[in-house]
Amino acid sequence: MMNDMPFQRLGVNIDHVATVRNARGGAYPDPLRAAKLAEEAGADGITAHLREDRRHISDADIDGLMDVLSVPLNFEMAATEEMQKIALHHKPHAVCLVPEKREERTTEGGLEVAREENRLAHYIAPLREAGCRVSIFIAADMRQIEAAHRIGAEVIELHTGAYCEAIAEGDHVTRDRELAALTDMAAYADGLGLEVHAGHGLTYESVSPIAALPQVKELNIGHFLIGESIFLGLQPAIREMRRLMDEARS
Ligand code: PXP
Repeated sequence: MMNDMPFQRLGVNIDHVATVRNARGGAYPDPLRAAKLAEEAGADGITAHLREDRRHISDADIDGLMDVLSVPLNFEMAATEEMQKIALHHKPHAVCLVPEKREERTTEGGLEVAREENRLAHYIAPLREAGCRVSIFIAADMRQIEAAHRIGAEVIELHTGAYCEAIAEGDHVTRDRELAALTDMAAYADGLGLEVHAGHGLTYESVSPIAALPQVKELNIGHFLIGESIFLGLQPAIREMRRLMDEARS
């Protein structure tokens, strides 16, 4: 069926296949095999976060992904010197800068671009020169969006974590407030010429209103899909997410 909404890509984050593998320190389940299956199931990209502490994805996983993927790799990383070197070595399609705190369980907030504008502008310049699309993971906050635009990022990824948490907690007031902010800021960022992505914590229950935002060109989804694959299998889990995204945009 044709409609006016631009296609929305689904990036599948495979970090937590590596989390399960690392629980035993062996070779399985293999995140590369998951990435290939995700591709076959219709993932438009694969996302992987090489954390400073290597708690899930490893350097060897990134080497392997660069070798085997047919779809683009969205390489998530903290804005450190070590990660910049790795990104410049591999030159992935996209680099998404995320804040990282050693003690956090997952990426808790967006990047404070406004506070670090100068450093980040210098930091992303060589990545852009190397041909990587630089994306910045930020809260739905006008100050951060404007700062991301000023430093020369091409893409922003809006953090949907607070919206998803509100749904999980049945807190409709916060859910509505967060969704309104995501809606407004997606339009605002798009108006500045930034490509808008969104992600973090999305599930079958929470995805539709975000998938329906016309300016959002890509969703990056991981933890829920890997969890759901225990029950459905990875490919059916991904296909159901794809179906919900398409339904929301039809
Ligand atoms: N987008 C970004 C920038 C992230 O850091 C993460 C988590 O690594 C995700 C999307 C995916 O979040 P989740 O695993 O909760 O779906």
